[in-house]
Parts: sequence; C-alpha cells; structure tokens
Amino acid sequence: MQNAYVSERITPEISSLSTQMIESITSEDPSPEERLMLDSLSGIEGLMLEKEALALFRSCKRLPNKAKILEIGSFQGGSTLAIGQAIAGTDIELYCLDPWSNYINQSDFTDFERLKVSDDFRIINNFIKNTAFIGENLRMLRGKSKAFAGLLDGKDFDFIFIDGAHDYDSVRYDIKLAFSALKPGGFVCGHDYHSQGHGVVKAVNELIGGVPSIEKKGKFDQTHIWFGIIAEPRYEYKLTEISNLMNAGKLAEALEKANAAYAEFENEEILNFISAIKSKINLCCGP
Ligand SMILES: C[S@@+](CC[C@H](N)C(=O)[O-])C[C@H]1O[C@@H](n2cnc3c(N)ncnc32)[C@H](O)[C@@H]1O
Repeated sequence: MQNAYVSERITPEISSLSTQMIESITSEDPSPEERLMLDSLSGIEGLMLEKEALALFRSCKRLPNKAKILEIGSFQGGSTLAIGQAIAGTDIELYCLDPWSNYINQSDFTDFERLKVSDDFRIINNFIKNTAFIGENLRMLRGKSKAFAGLLDGKDFDFIFIDGAHDYDSVRYDIKLAFSALKPGGFVCGHDYHSQGHGVVKAVNELIGGVPSIEKKGKFDQTHIWFGIIAEPRYEYKLTEISNLMNAGKLAEALEKANAAYAEFENEEILNFISAIKSKINLCCGP
C-alpha cells in the first residue's frame, strides 16, 4: 500500500535525483561555472567549506523546474549563494528561513566572535546584498522555524537544507518539520554533522539514521553535510512520533497513534509497532 502511494506521487525527476546525486556529488574538480560560484562565496563571511558549497550547488542543479527548496538557517547567505547560483534562470523557488537576529544570544552557538554576529542590521543587509542576484525566486521567512511549522506543513518541498539552531532539540525539531514539509521522495540534508556540531550528530542519527525505511542516508564524502532521501515523509513522521511515545513509556497514546497510522498507510512496519506496543502493554499491565 505504501509503495503504491509513493509511486503515484513521486516524480521521475526526483527519483532519479536520488541515485545520480550521491554518486556525483563530490566526485570531480569544480567546473568553470562552479569555480565562479566558489569565488563569489569567498567574499561572504560564513562557515561553508568549498566542498560543502559544491555539494549543495550540485544537488540543487539536479532539481526539476518549479521545484521548491527550503533553507533553514541562512545567516549572511553563504549556503544561499551556492543554492541560488544553481537555480539561477529557472522557476525554482527558494524559501530562506532565519530570524536574522543576534544568534549568539540564541544560546546555540559559542564559537563566533560576539561582535561579528551581534549586529542584526548588518547581518540582514548582508544577506539581502549577497543574495540579491536570486531576485524574486527567493522568499525570506523571518523568524525561528517553530513560527513557520504550520505554514510549511504539507507544502511539498523537493529539497530542504537544515543549518539553523544546532542544539539537539532544535535539530530534532527541524528534521521533523522537514518530514512534514517534504514531498514524497524529497531530499533532506543539513550542515555540521561533526563533533563540534552540538546536537546535530545525535539528532540526525536518531531521526534519519534510525528509521529503516528512509531510502538513503549518510554523509557526503569529505563534507559535514548529512543527507537522507525520504520516500514518504509523512509516514516517517508518524513512525518517529510512535517510537518516541513508546520510548517515553506512553504506550496507550502510542497504540492509538499506531492504529491511526495503520488505517492511513496500511504498512507492515506499523503493524510490527502495534504488536510491539501491545506486548509491552501486556508485560506491564497484564493481558
Ligand atoms: C550556522 S548559521 C547558518 C549559516 C549559513 N547556512 C551559511 O552558510 O552561512 C545558523 C543560522 O541559523 C539561524 N537560526 C538560529 N536558530 C534558528 C531557528 N530556530 N530557526 C531558524 N533559523 C535559526 C541563525 O540566526 C543563523 O543565522
């Protein structure tokens, strides 16, 4: 049932993106076009490595016309520039979400010079200046990701790049937001999958690494960008919700959610969850 649902909705462009992209993403030296993008990136204060900007640029180059991209955490537009140069001249829409405020005080980052990031006007002005070439294809969503959850839910994004707050709870939140906002077969990725990435590694391992049915997952070679290709994001979202409830010992609630999810997706994986929850309930409360 799940496969039928996915194949009805998945576009051929997006499914071919999955395999081609992973193979070629870090393989060759930059082309002249890519070199130009990297040269303009060097003028922007940020933390994108060249390899990472290339991975983003190449991934977005493969998106079909009219695709929709969401970037969570844009700062002064380093990653936005890499994405923006890939979509120049297309009808691809890029939504950039960031409070563009003094994020040193957002308590998630400790390793920047305070003065450099404390001037809100300078940061938002620099973002606008650095990304002006993208024109009307770029939409700015100013605020924290939580403020936009309802708006983004079900919006069928093809590609979501997460580089917002890096504490564990925020990364978990943003991945789940991506599950609710991605199109079937959509691509989610994010920055700073390394030991200084605060909660990134833990949250990504739990939500992307931990769900067996996410098609591909891993890290781009020689970068700190993690990725996952999600066959049915809303289904994955339900699975993680159910397993979180189970882990929290909220078995009755988990069973209710699992039954509802089974009614929606009729998937065997959910049936396994239902049996596991029922046996846990029997163990703790008797038949
Ligand atoms: C590491 S920077 C992003 C760097 C950017 N991608 C680049 O390439 O230069 C993190 C950004 O996330 C933003 N941010 C922090 N918390 C956020 C949240 N809850 N939702 C969205 N953005 C957030 C900060 O304002 C900051 O600009």
